[in-house]
Amino acid sequence: MKTNILLIGSGGREHALARAIAESPSAGMLYALPGNPGILKTFQHVNARVEDFNSISQFCKQFAIDLVVVGPEQPLADGLADRLILEGINVFGPISAAAKLESSKDFAKAMMLKYKVPTAAYRTFTASQYDEAHRYIDGHTLPIVLKADGLAAGKGVIIAENHFDAHNALNEMFSGLFGNAGNRVVIEEFLRGEEASIFAITDGTDYFLTPASQDHKRQFDNDEGKNTGGMGAFAPAPIVTKSVLQKVEERVIKPLLEGMQKEGTPFIGCLYCGLMIENDEPSVVEFNVRFGDPETQAVLELLEGDFAKLLYTAATGKIDRNAVKVIENTFSTCVVLASGGYPDDYEKGFEITGIEDAINSGANVYHAGTKSETGMILTNGGRVLGVTAKGDSLAESIANVYDAVSHIVFYNMINRKDIGFKGLKFF
Ligand code: AMP
Ligand code: GLY
Repeated sequence: MKTNILLIGSGGREHALARAIAESPSAGMLYALPGNPGILKTFQHVNARVEDFNSISQFCKQFAIDLVVVGPEQPLADGLADRLILEGINVFGPISAAAKLESSKDFAKAMMLKYKVPTAAYRTFTASQYDEAHRYIDGHTLPIVLKADGLAAGKGVIIAENHFDAHNALNEMFSGLFGNAGNRVVIEEFLRGEEASIFAITDGTDYFLTPASQDHKRQFDNDEGKNTGGMGAFAPAPIVTKSVLQKVEERVIKPLLEGMQKEGTPFIGCLYCGLMIENDEPSVVEFNVRFGDPETQAVLELLEGDFAKLLYTAATGKIDRNAVKVIENTFSTCVVLASGGYPDDYEKGFEITGIEDAINSGANVYHAGTKSETGMILTNGGRVLGVTAKGDSLAESIANVYDAVSHIVFYNMINRKDIGFKGLKFF
């Protein structure tokens, strides 16, 4: 059976999803809303707004869409899956009540507490508990982690090194710095260790695990500078040993999926487990309800088979875990090329050259913030491209990706030079 697919989103993650879908034997007609110049090489553009659920639903019916794959979290939190499922349309991505695992940090923490998933100790406060929250901070060990409850585009987490900063951060959150997201604040223990992410592609009960990966969230080499959406990633992450993986399955994924079922809101889609690992012991830092960006660009390179079938079977009740297979003894590294200034202000509209040369060197170049104009590809965002290359070892995939990166030029281009290095100590 051929599956007609509508992909929602426009970032590097969606381009990686698009490549894997387009290369799937079961892929039928492929559409993207809105897509980007990379995605639109193989997908047809759909001219509608992501917020316009009516138009999306009409489009799906008119064009016999068998599966909608939702890339970003916002439409899931807003109920896009609920609406489409109500109309009989299959969706890869959770309903709004299950998307709360990402859209409410308090909900995620409460689920973890209830279903005994290892995570940092915490308490949640609303603005009306102002005095109590400040007293809680006074008695808290350092550093103190404060999280705005709602979606804050990755910016709602503050790690305070002293009590003064923690009090200030709390005041900022309560006073609306992160909008409504900060009406409730989770205050939690600081976890030590190294971070890694694991994606479970799930039908709500059964799941397929992609290779574990590590993101590089800070702006500069050696994990210095500001937090960004992610400056690069590699997979598989050697810090996720067999024993860590087993613990994550037994202590995190299985109890959480069962818990979501028990609550009457089964989780269907990609459960992103953001972990902190110390001495082989994993603890959950966060859940996301969609694929990670830029981890997906690295991770999907390591799958072969029918990715579209994996997503379709997950969305329609019984995941076919044999639809894809992990390519063994291969590593993949993704380096994000960003506009100078990112994650703060940056200029855009500059011509990008060398993409074809990078591809000819054996890499995949995923578009994130680009636009196509009069035959040229121009920069159009903070994170512009995600260059991804494989190798038989982590070191080789790193060498291959930086070779590919060397072909690409645009004005004010910045990128980290040490993506993947943190994995080398394991070899
Ligand atoms: P989040 O938005 O929950 O992913 O948090 C953003 C980043 O803050 C994470 O990727 C971690 O690097 C860091 N972080 C969040 N919570 C904690 C914690 N409890 N302990 C240490 N680091 C944390
Ligand atoms: N790479 C982190 C995220 O997608 O949230």
